[in-house]
Amino acid sequence: MANGLPRLSLYIHIPWCVQKCPYCDFNSHALKGEVPHQEYVEHLLNDLDNSLHLVQGRQLATIFIGGGTPSLLSSQAMQDLMDGVRQRIPFAAEIEVTMEANPGTVEAERFSGYQQAGINRISIGVQSFDAQKLTRLGRIHGPGEAIRAAELATGLGLRSFNLDLMHGLPDQSIEQALDDLRQAIALNPPHLSWYQLTIEPNTLFASRPPKLPDDDDLWDIFEQGDQLLREAGYEQYETSAYAKPGYRCEHNLNYWRFGDYLGIGCGAHGKITLADGSIMRTVKTRHPKGYMRGEYLDRQFMVADEDKAFEFFMNRFRLLEACPRQDFTALTGLPEEHVRGALDKAIAAGYLQETPDVWQITAQGKLFLNSLLEAFLPETA
Ligand SMILES: C[S@@+](CC[C@H](N)C(=O)[O-])C[C@H]1O[C@@H](n2cnc3c(N)ncnc32)[C@H](O)[C@@H]1O
Ligand code: SF4
Repeated sequence: MANGLPRLSLYIHIPWCVQKCPYCDFNSHALKGEVPHQEYVEHLLNDLDNSLHLVQGRQLATIFIGGGTPSLLSSQAMQDLMDGVRQRIPFAAEIEVTMEANPGTVEAERFSGYQQAGINRISIGVQSFDAQKLTRLGRIHGPGEAIRAAELATGLGLRSFNLDLMHGLPDQSIEQALDDLRQAIALNPPHLSWYQLTIEPNTLFASRPPKLPDDDDLWDIFEQGDQLLREAGYEQYETSAYAKPGYRCEHNLNYWRFGDYLGIGCGAHGKITLADGSIMRTVKTRHPKGYMRGEYLDRQFMVADEDKAFEFFMNRFRLLEACPRQDFTALTGLPEEHVRGALDKAIAAGYLQETPDVWQITAQGKLFLNSLLEAFLPETA
């Protein structure tokens, strides 16, 4: 906490992709023509200018450039973007700056350009190493490009890199899912995000659902995969996030620990604590057309007191680490009595353990996270 305010992060959204993947509900738009590199960077920096009063004397602890496909931006545009941000907000000495990169969109030269611009962590969207599965997922790259991207990231000597991998894919056997994981581990990424594929509303997969592994197979994939990861030296610290010791993603940790973040770019969300302790959320214009007319802010609103506890625990209990009890009051401004009833219920149900200093989610709590969180909903807390 600086000036009594939470750590500050910055999220930057790049909304274009070469084509839309059938499972994806992120704010991403199939590119028609060329990315408007310089024009979009100018809009991002104008958007940031409008948000500078929310910094309130803080340094940036982390930056995450996500998408969409940020690696469609030229390294010059990335340099201008990073220079522009640096001129406007001081960077913490140990700042973590992540960029998402899609295999098939990054050449070796561009990678080192991004690094020169200040990117020190790259998150590569591998998804699978199986050529047929990649085609089924609508990906524009094959396994070879994913491996090459990971090798490039290793060679650059970045502070860290992540591989995104999905499991529970259409017609995927347990062995195929574990084989994907083995290949990812062999590339030795310091961080691995291992997501179970979910069918999201308003996606192509939702309108034409593929055949997914049944619940028993999904459970076996998770159990055996989790074991493989542990044996390879990875620690799970969130539902889908695994890291070697010392390589957790600081940016995501700040979200889940209920820190503050500015969001710039199409559809970006922000959460900011004001000097009086109230919490404001901001949402930027979703579609590139409106955003690039200079209409950056879609809406902003204050988080009602009765919603703060649920929001705090919904984020916090994604993490497997213990939650310091003092964080609740420090970050929501509410006394612990506000949630005493809900905490007691969760403890009685075996979802939570309490010591004088921390709350620790139990294995049972992890398994029944939705029931645990229900206790903190405004009408029940
Ligand atoms: C912001 S997305 C996209 C990053 C990048 N554009 C890419 O596709 O490589 C981050 C990650 O979320 C995961 N993801 C996206 N849609 C998902 C879904 N429906 N179910 C599970 N994971 C998903 C993918 O692993 C993806 O790499
Ligand atoms: S490339 Fe990534 S962001 Fe773009 S549509 Fe596919 S999953 Fe979504």
